[in-house]
Order: sequence, then C-alpha cells, then structure tokens
Amino acid sequence: MRPGHTQCIEAWQRRLPELVERSRWILGPEVDAFESEFAAFCGAARAVGTASGTDAITIALWLHDIRTPEHEVITTPLTAPFTALAVLRAGASVRFADVDPDTLLLDPARAAAARTANTAAFLPVHLYGQSCDLERWQALAGKWGAALVQDACQAHGARHRGRSFNDYSPCAAYSFYPTKNLGALGDGGALCLAREADAERARRLRDGGRVSGHMAEIAGLNSRLDELQAAYLRVALAHLPEWNSRRQWLARLYDEELAALPAELIRPVGRASGSDHVYHLYVVRAARREALRQFLESRGVMTGIHYPVPLHLQPAFAACGLRPGDLPVAERAAGEILSLPMGVHLGEEEVRYTGSLIRDFYLG
Ligand SMILES: Cc1ncc(COP(=O)(O)O)c(C=O)c1O
Repeated sequence: MRPGHTQCIEAWQRRLPELVERSRWILGPEVDAFESEFAAFCGAARAVGTASGTDAITIALWLHDIRTPEHEVITTPLTAPFTALAVLRAGASVRFADVDPDTLLLDPARAAAARTANTAAFLPVHLYGQSCDLERWQALAGKWGAALVQDACQAHGARHRGRSFNDYSPCAAYSFYPTKNLGALGDGGALCLAREADAERARRLRDGGRVSGHMAEIAGLNSRLDELQAAYLRVALAHLPEWNSRRQWLARLYDEELAALPAELIRPVGRASGSDHVYHLYVVRAARREALRQFLESRGVMTGIHYPVPLHLQPAFAACGLRPGDLPVAERAAGEILSLPMGVHLGEEEVRYTGSLIRDFYLG
C-alpha cells in the first residue's frame, strides 16, 4: 500500500462510528465539504461530485445542451475508452482527431481540421496528468462557437500556465477511480465548474434530473457520490499536494535515468511548454517495446500500456467510420508507448533500478 494511503484509511476508519451514527449515506455533509475542498484545491469556484469521471463528462456535455447525434464532439483516440463512451452516453456523436506527435495530447490544429458544421464541442484530455494547451483550445472553441469540455480525469491539481483549468472553460471533469492521483475506495468523480447556474443544473442532472423527491424535470443520471467515499476523499485530498510533488520528483529521476540513452531508442513523451504535469503516469516511447516490456517484467518491473488500441479502431466506436491508417500519429504511438512504474509508493531505489535495467536492455 502506498505511504499515506494506510494512514488515510486509518483516519477514515476512525471517523466511521460518527458517520454510521449520522446515517446519511448519499449527498450529505461529507459530499458538501469535499466538494468545497476539492474546488478550492483545483482553484475552481465550485465542484459537484458524481459517481464516476465518465458521468462527470456526460453531465458536462449536457450542461452545454449537447444531447443528440447531430451534436458532434471532437476528442482524442489516445485515451481511456470512457472519454468517448461518455460522449455516446450523452447522446452525441464522437469524432476523433489525431494527436500531437511529441506530447500525444489532442492536437488543436488537427481538431480544427476535423471540425464540421455539426461540431458542438472539443473534448481534450489532460493525458497522463499533463495539461493541454488551454489557451489554444479556448481560442479554437471561441472561434468556432463550440464548447470546450476538459477531461481532467488524470490531472488532479494540475494547472495551465499557473492558472486553474476553469479559467479557460466552465467545465472540467475528474475521476476518483482508485488508481488516480486522488483515488477513492471505489468509483467516484466530480465536475469543477465556474458558474453557479451550471452547478445547480449539474446537481440536478446527477440526481435523476429531479426537482423534488418524485418529480424529474429533465432526464438525468443516477450518479451521486456517497458519503463514505467523500469522507475518504477528504482525508486523501489533504495529502495530494505532497503526493503530486512526489510523483514529479520520481519523474525527474526517470528523466535523469533516460538522459544517457539515444532518443531513437527510448525517450519520455514530450512535455509542452507552459504545461503543468502531475504524472498520473510516466510514459516513454520505446523501440522494441514488447521485448523491453518482457525484459522488465522478467526482472520484476511491471509496466503498462496507455493505450494499446486507439479508440477509432475499437468496435464500440465503429460508427465513426475510421480505419487503420486514418489517425497515423496515434496509431504509431500506440505501438511504442510504455508506462513505467509510477506512484507514491515508489522510492528513488526503484526508479534507479528500472533505469539500470533499461540501460542494460538497450546498451548491455
Ligand atoms: C482520461 C480518462 N477519462 C475518463 C475516465 C473515466 O473515469 P471513471 O473511471 O471514473 O469513470 C478515466 C478513468 O478511467 C480516464 O483516465
């Protein structure tokens, strides 16, 4: 278990008798307090908890009245399927545009080229914890009269050019899936919102679209954050600045370890200037990726691939009509990327060990 995580669970367990005594299980004072604390942490005016990050994205689209297949949402093929599944769940259509060859973030220029008269929103993802170029996205969305919805499910605490994500668009969606930088003890999510009117609608949309106990005004979701998760998230949130700093430190150590190796063999995914990075994942581009992966695994170092099959080539998104070769940058990257171990449970020794194995693999 990660350092801090055990203490968090213990601190949460100490609160359980009080929470049980209170017997408020859903949307109570813990959720209210967590929403305020998380909003403050993100520099947002307000936050609204949901049952997952996927639901938070769906609700964000609904806040922009994006609900029908005529509404097209442009997003990246290099992300968790949930980004695009949330668009389909909202009732809209997905359109994929290719990613930047260096940062692997959705490329604004390619997204602009993919735009049609039906484009209702751009949905960039702060992939791996690195913030997208929100100034460019804001300008693009403004130019075309489209909404800008941010998938911040991997970027808790990241800023862009020192500014909060909500300085650039009204809605950013977060996930508290347990492996995230801020993870719950199960599923959870939140929207950070700039406007109170959006927050009011989001609170309604997450709760069945009800205006009162038995009256649904709009078709919403049953997507409420529960009190026990919120109580845990409050404890964990207090550690997040320290955990994010630790991830950034580990990333610098990896950078050092890889610096001696030729970039055509292995290099970290590019960082954009002005971007902040909270290293949900530390991802490299590696020649002979599968062999490297097996080599590391055989020596006890487990890695991941985020993501092996770009979304436009997955059956769930066949309706987008794209084929292999249509988004070549993402397709090529999918064959090269490798996520090295990252998490606050790691120390310098583990990173140095992985670095030495990588050098042995390529140079040994
Ligand atoms: C980039 C991205 N978007 C969306 C999601 C969906 O979040 P959740 O699993 O909380 O629904 C995730 C997490 O899996 C994610 O990593």
